[in-house]
Amino acid sequence: MDGLARLEYRGYDSAGIAVLSDGRLQTEKRAGKLANLRAALDHNAPAADGIGIGHTRWATHGPPTDVNAHPHVDHDNRVAVIHNGIIENFAALRLELEERGCKFTSETDTEVTAHLLAAELHDRGDNDLAAALRSVCRRLEGAFTLVAMFAEEPDLVVAARRNSPLVVGRGEGENFLASDVAAFIAHTRDAVELGQDQVVELRADSVTITDYDGNPAEVREYHVDWDASAAEKGGYEYFMLKEIVEQPRAVADTLLGRVGVDGTLTLDEMRLAPSELRDVEKIVIIAAGTSFHAGMIAKYAIEHWCRVPCEVEVASEFRYRDPILNRQTLVIAISQSGESMDTLMAVRYAREQRARVLAICNVNGSTIPRESDGVLYTHAGPEVGVAATKTFLTQLVACYLVGLYLAQVRTVKFGDEINAVIAQLANMPEQVENVLATIDPVRQLARSLSDASTVLFLGRHVGYPVALEGALKLKELAYMHAEAFAAGELKHGPIALIEDGLPVVVVVPSREGRGVLHDKIVSNIQEIRARGARTIVIAEEGDTAVHPFADELIEIPAVPTLLQPIISTIPLQVFACELALAKGNDVDQPRNLAKSVTVE
Ligand code: AGP
Repeated sequence: MDGLARLEYRGYDSAGIAVLSDGRLQTEKRAGKLANLRAALDHNAPAADGIGIGHTRWATHGPPTDVNAHPHVDHDNRVAVIHNGIIENFAALRLELEERGCKFTSETDTEVTAHLLAAELHDRGDNDLAAALRSVCRRLEGAFTLVAMFAEEPDLVVAARRNSPLVVGRGEGENFLASDVAAFIAHTRDAVELGQDQVVELRADSVTITDYDGNPAEVREYHVDWDASAAEKGGYEYFMLKEIVEQPRAVADTLLGRVGVDGTLTLDEMRLAPSELRDVEKIVIIAAGTSFHAGMIAKYAIEHWCRVPCEVEVASEFRYRDPILNRQTLVIAISQSGESMDTLMAVRYAREQRARVLAICNVNGSTIPRESDGVLYTHAGPEVGVAATKTFLTQLVACYLVGLYLAQVRTVKFGDEINAVIAQLANMPEQVENVLATIDPVRQLARSLSDASTVLFLGRHVGYPVALEGALKLKELAYMHAEAFAAGELKHGPIALIEDGLPVVVVVPSREGRGVLHDKIVSNIQEIRARGARTIVIAEEGDTAVHPFADELIEIPAVPTLLQPIISTIPLQVFACELALAKGNDVDQPRNLAKSVTVE
């Protein structure tokens, strides 16, 4: 149950467990959060003296009810199965099983696997659960991690994966399986990452990993560099509150060891040689959600510093439009979890087209970095709150590092200019700290707006993706209508939305350089204010030009425009979090969401 609690951020529509005791499978499952299952177990705990499996669900097929919760069992209650992912050919398999006399109890795609396993075991007649699972997997289409127990094998748990994540935790006289190391981190930090199409047989004292044909498989063992306390709330009511406060450290850790005193960047894990980077003719960034916003910001920085054309695209659209890629294309896949199915599929597609793929990722051992040519890890530590906060800031840092490294390698700008930016980047943890030290008025402002029905966000240049991120945070946490626009687009339509008292958050670019962008957005603020908007202006300290037009002013330190998103995002995170809390929402587990979206 503690392991499940640590995984609950991945899905919280329902939860269930199955344990094997005295040769009997006992299952308990409940719709809703894990607390419902805990309450049920308090009244009726099965005698658990052996092995067990458990699951928290993010519903795909069938609503979040007790019946649709996992584990699912065959009709003789001999086999129990849990599953992440989607079995795409489940309808045909279900029909076949029904013709064979199977009675289904749920609406899930998962249940077919329990019946298939039971049928396979019956047909084989040898009680070889791993062999039966291999045969079943060969028949499945789609994405899955499957974990199964069999009443005849009281010491054995078997599992298989294709596309969805699965890691093994190796303890002493005990072993674990989970989608994420967080589930077993209190017991062991020694992990084994399972590759694509592999099956694991897990006993208390042995771990055997094979491919779907039963051949021994190659695996990578690694040691997790954080401990259980990093994934605790540490005195905060919500993980999100803690993770916002952790941002100066997360940003510093992502820079750590990568910036030399003379400005030399060391990005060893990138595994892409300078000669390969010099040959790059085009960069394509693919990502989803918040990571996509990081990618949008990266585009501005990379094109400016490196003078290489850079496209950015949502991963779910990418491979369906026949994009033009070749060996001279560098694809940068940004994913906190390293497991988002849309991004993973885009990575595979890009590699098939012979593009080089660099992953920017926070989770060691996850699928996307494993399948990429190189990786740059963000060192944000575990992020449990479903809304990305510290991982977004560290993604930005990683993107800037890649851009600056490319600029150094390709020498299209003067070394001094790039070194000056590197020095400013190295100073960002302090600036993040400064923003957090003065954030309280944003909380009060957010609480005063808890009755608003819509909030609009405007930005220009890198402030536009920041505005998009602010709107996303508000939608996912406060369940409010929020939209972001490039401020210049406003007069092409969206300005019609402005009415008396409508809160509009404006991210004002810094005044560095010629300040052209800055002056344009000051005009935009006046245009909306003249039409009744309540302007909430995020601007750098001492920017007196905005003062007359700001109904609410949020000041941030003056930093170069391209780096400003690292600090201008923070008030928007706090704004959304506080507004959601004022509405009584659970900011760690917002409705309908899951931290890592492992289905397409
Ligand atoms: C962020 O607050 C969201 N929860 C979501 O948009 C997330 O960024 C997206 O699902 C991508 O996830 P990834 O970075 O793990 O690939």
